[in-house]
Amino acid sequence: MDIRGIDHIELYVGDARQAAFYFGTAVGFTLLGQGGPETGLVGQRSLLLGQGDIRMVLTTGLTADHPASGYVARHGDGIAVVAVEVGDAAGAYAELVARGATSVTPPRTWTGADAEVVTAEVGGFGDVLHRLVERRGDRGDFLPGAIEATPAGGGTDERLLAEIDHLAVCVPPGQLDDTVAHYERVFGFAQIFEEHIEVAGQAMNSKVVQDTSGRVTLVLLEPDAGRRPGQIDAFLTEHHGAGVQHLGLRTDDIVGAVGALGARGVRFAGTPAAYYDDLEQRVGKVDAPLDRLRDLSILVDADHGGQLLQIFTESMHVRRTLFLELIERRGARTFGSGNIRALYEAKERELAVAGATPAVAAGTARGAGA
Ligand code: FE2
Repeated sequence: MDIRGIDHIELYVGDARQAAFYFGTAVGFTLLGQGGPETGLVGQRSLLLGQGDIRMVLTTGLTADHPASGYVARHGDGIAVVAVEVGDAAGAYAELVARGATSVTPPRTWTGADAEVVTAEVGGFGDVLHRLVERRGDRGDFLPGAIEATPAGGGTDERLLAEIDHLAVCVPPGQLDDTVAHYERVFGFAQIFEEHIEVAGQAMNSKVVQDTSGRVTLVLLEPDAGRRPGQIDAFLTEHHGAGVQHLGLRTDDIVGAVGALGARGVRFAGTPAAYYDDLEQRVGKVDAPLDRLRDLSILVDADHGGQLLQIFTESMHVRRTLFLELIERRGARTFGSGNIRALYEAKERELAVAGATPAVAAGTARGAGA
């Protein structure tokens, strides 16, 4: 099976139009197309957004029995499909099912005037599916016949964000090794990174798996059940099981992107000013103004290949589950040893601040998280 990279992701959301307004207005995505019952997408409305090489489908179920409705009822808004491009979708589907993947949707061909797309779906982790996508002809025709292209001019057409870098996935305690083994055995991924992190009496295990093309990367996170419950436990409780905690989006200019998105209302996790005092002792000379990085709370880490700059948004969801990461790679191809710890600590600070704000509890019995 030749995986060529992530084709797109699909979010199941309560209201695709409102979610599209957020991702468009705040995060710089452009509306590229849409479909619904009138295009043969029974019981759903789907909007296609794009920015750089990122393609994101936002789908809302229009009937109670549509899978998107059930997903949102269980998990709230979230990433439900991680689609990968393959050379032969029907062949890949047969191969994966033979190796033990759960069959969800057998191969189906979508035919247009200048393009043909074959899709099939198998189970991934939790309620998240993997869609296999084979494209022939015009690559601009996303799903021939089902998603109609929107006339140009519907968005900002920027390229603040270039492509999907990785997805971070929380799994329940005890399931990390099984999940890694599943991706190795069924999907042919390899484990490329492993870390145990302890912060303030909490702990988690992380393992990173990647396909042979190096273009599909899953950062798997599991809470250490022997320690004080922390944010991974909170995610699993609020999300009701395994799921995508954050989406890592690569940018060519993180300083420009964070400035632009912040000006439009995207809220980023803060970083203590002291973090920058000995930054260059930890990661070496940084080719960016440190005061600008400090102003924007951008984190810097390094691996053997070079540096990476990153920042995490606060969650945009009421359950405080899914959030975004912006990452600029300057030679680093993996994750620095401080990367996952930095995220963990930043998220702890966000939750601590939110928990101390009385307004968060207004109108709901639900607390702001652990
Ligand atoms: Fe990440």
